[in-house]
Amino acid sequence: MGRIFSIMSGKGGVGKSTLAASLAEYYAREGKKVALLDGDTGLRCADLLLGLQDKIVYDLGDVTEKNCDLEKAAVEASGIPGLTLLAAPQMMRASDMKAKDVGRIVTRLAEQNDILILDAPAGIGRGLKNLLGAAAEPVIVATPDDVCVRDAERLFALLTQREEPRPVIVFNRVSSRLVRRGDMTPPDVLAASLDLPLMGAIPESKKVYQALLTHKTPMQCGDMRFVRAIEGIAGRLLGAEVPMERYAPSAVLQFFRRGGDGR
Ligand SMILES: Nc1ncnc2c1ncn2[C@@H]1O[C@H](COP(=O)(O)OP(=O)(O)O)[C@@H](O)[C@H]1O
Ligand SMILES: [Mg+2]
Repeated sequence: MGRIFSIMSGKGGVGKSTLAASLAEYYAREGKKVALLDGDTGLRCADLLLGLQDKIVYDLGDVTEKNCDLEKAAVEASGIPGLTLLAAPQMMRASDMKAKDVGRIVTRLAEQNDILILDAPAGIGRGLKNLLGAAAEPVIVATPDDVCVRDAERLFALLTQREEPRPVIVFNRVSSRLVRRGDMTPPDVLAASLDLPLMGAIPESKKVYQALLTHKTPMQCGDMRFVRAIEGIAGRLLGAEVPMERYAPSAVLQFFRRGGDGR
């Protein structure tokens, strides 16, 4: 049984699909057998990020509806050996699928692969609940602003009602310049204040959006800061000790870990 990482967020548009597609591509290029399941029912997007839109005939909904089997619906990513994608249904709602059926597909994909990445829908609705099998390791994505952090906190609260595994967090669209100027709270301080292990901070990069416009995958965007951030996150998720950029002095982090009241 492979590892299952569920990429989720409280708020939409924070970079879940970008991170999910990038991790999937990175692990596959490292020689692992990887599946990416686009779980964002109605808002399919992973196929576009990986340039596979013309190859999609069947999707997750076709498998739950038994229109075709899983092997037929999961397409191999041209140009990225070892990676397959199961697309999200576009014309269904999350409530049209049974969590039990989605769970069975998640389990089969995890059995057939070393790593399964779930690109979850935003928020804490039915779509997320469909995907949340016990074995999925939650990776919360947030941008470093108050609105997004509050939403991440709510999602974390919901997730902690479950048994293990414990959620971890990734901050996206981090600007070192704004952090240095004191305008953006450092990601390590935010993670400590939420009491969530920080898996990495992804820089804000124009090239990531340009890659989308020019039909390149995010990992092919040409911004080495972005690529290195993904490599670091991919390694840490598998337990490797990859050094991380330290934004805040350790005394400040200790303060937040104690609850920020000097206890
Ligand atoms: N680090 C980044 N720098 C710049 N733009 C980004 C970054 N991460 C994501 N984006 C852009 O933000 C938008 C939303 O990203 P997406 O991954 O689709 O979010 P979500 O899946 O959470 O809705 C996309 O246009 C994407 O190209
Ligand atoms: Mg998305």
